[in-house]
Amino acid sequence: MTARKPLALGNWKMNGDMVANEQLMSGLLESSALLMTGGAIQAGFAVPAPYLFQAAVRLKGTGFLWGAQDCSDQANGAYTGEISTAMLQDFEAGFCLVGHSERRARHHETDQQIGAKLKALLAAGVMPVLCVGESLEQRESGLAVQVVCDQVLAALKGLKTEELVQLAVAYEPIWAIGTGKTASAADAQAMHAAIRQALGQLDAKAAGQMRILYGGSVKAANSAELFAQPDIDGGLVGGASLDVKEMTGILQAANTRAASLGLVQQNS
Ligand code: 13P
Repeated sequence: MTARKPLALGNWKMNGDMVANEQLMSGLLESSALLMTGGAIQAGFAVPAPYLFQAAVRLKGTGFLWGAQDCSDQANGAYTGEISTAMLQDFEAGFCLVGHSERRARHHETDQQIGAKLKALLAAGVMPVLCVGESLEQRESGLAVQVVCDQVLAALKGLKTEELVQLAVAYEPIWAIGTGKTASAADAQAMHAAIRQALGQLDAKAAGQMRILYGGSVKAANSAELFAQPDIDGGLVGGASLDVKEMTGILQAANTRAASLGLVQQNS
């Protein structure tokens, strides 16, 4: 089986402006251009939709991906405020988040809608990143694994092997998002292994190839330990992705994982 290439994605959420975005992207290009051209990892940013063009212009040819934080499940038409997958294609978006807990909570997105968005993205050739995660209450009542695996299975059922291998899953425990509390590497690994097992129920062949990212207060300082876990294939990073130094450290941790998998080319 080919190794799963580490994936480190920043989620800017509703942050940034033209000037700050430029500073952030140029800072990262300066710190990490060499690492990105090596091709051992994949990395990119889910930017607010108005800045997709700015990101596309700035990041084209650099090895970094740019993507969106949400999309519509509809092709086009009278859907005020929504963004279609064709529009994402127009800006060469490499990926799109779906089902982030902030959207599940604030916009009452259901597993069914999330599944429909995911299928629309697959049809458009844009990599979906399915976000799942439990609340603190669910974790404390011992329901975390069930809740998370149910979210995964509900969104992905019916997909074919060749579709499943194109998407990534991001496990983001809600209690760890923006709180500074990270799941311990052992707890995160346990959940990732449970998710991979659930994916195996859907499709044994795809499960071993699918990337499962961890998200929730990922920082440079905790990324190496998280990314050293066998089933943690990278991270989905919120707050720390807005800081050049932090994100640079996270990209380096992803590269260390890539090296441990034999994906980093050694210069002779
Ligand atoms: P933080 O890294 O700020 O906790 O956010 C995680 C997240 O929600 C990424 O999608």
